[in-house]
Amino acid sequence: MRTVHSVKDLRAQVKAWHQKGERVALVPTMGNLHQGHLTLVREAKQLADRVVVSIFVNPMQFGANEDLSAYPRTPDEDSSALFEEGVDLLFMPSVEALYPNGMEGHTKVEVPAISDLYCGQTRPGHFRGVATVVCKLFNLVQPDIACFGTKDYQQLAVIRRMVEDLAMPIDIKGVETVRAEDGLALSSRNGYLTSEERAQAPALYATLNAMGDSLTQGEQDFAALIDQGKAQLSQAGFKPDYLYILNADTLLPAAKEDKELVLLAAAYLGKARLIDNLRVDLQ
Ligand code: PAJ
Repeated sequence: MRTVHSVKDLRAQVKAWHQKGERVALVPTMGNLHQGHLTLVREAKQLADRVVVSIFVNPMQFGANEDLSAYPRTPDEDSSALFEEGVDLLFMPSVEALYPNGMEGHTKVEVPAISDLYCGQTRPGHFRGVATVVCKLFNLVQPDIACFGTKDYQQLAVIRRMVEDLAMPIDIKGVETVRAEDGLALSSRNGYLTSEERAQAPALYATLNAMGDSLTQGEQDFAALIDQGKAQLSQAGFKPDYLYILNADTLLPAAKEDKELVLLAAAYLGKARLIDNLRVDLQ
């Protein structure tokens, strides 16, 4: 595995592969890698001849009061894990390498409407930062395929929309959420949890599953179900941020006749803000 920090080295390597007709997959990450990230890497390896992983904690997608400086950074462990997985190229740019003219006047990619909902409401500007850095990484790497986790369901929808609207010639592959045995979705932010909070944390996915079961059994009173779900989360020690029953494609509030739904949730547990979701397909 080769590690590069500069745009120049990255471009030269990818160009050489493309000239040989090799297909290149990109897995963008912010590092502190866990089995969720590594599952994306394994998927990427199945789909392409070469795999590029980027590790960049993107300041543009963090709000002023968010955890940018506290965000866990473990480059040595990440690098060994990616080497073990047989990754071809690790791109680890500095902030200056990616934003040589600073971030203030930088061109921004705005995916309207969807970016302002749910996580976008709690984190204004977050998805603008995500779309901008992902667009930039796409232009730098020029991958044929890029893999993203469905754990960040709204993020994946924003990226799919950007790729469609701007006609980017890249296949976007969504990969299932990887969970701990007790159901908690793996996340770098789980590291913020105390051991007591870690024991409470599976209640988030358990709540979504209980709601999913009710929907499958024919419950149609979405508002009541959401109230119950929020109560269940509060009882388990969470402070709910949002909980919605949405159309899985449009991400707009579900109508009674919708069959493909997604339950989308964000909730605070101590210092951590955890997100999760569950697809529910009704017959
Ligand atoms: P990060 O949180 O590091 O996640 C990188 C990728 O790993 C994302 O596509 C995310 O959905 C996926 N992922 C995280 N946890 C997962 C899990 N438990 N199972 C499966 N996949 C999981 O998301 C970002 O970074 C950034 O916003 C980024 C896209 C890199 C742009 O800066």
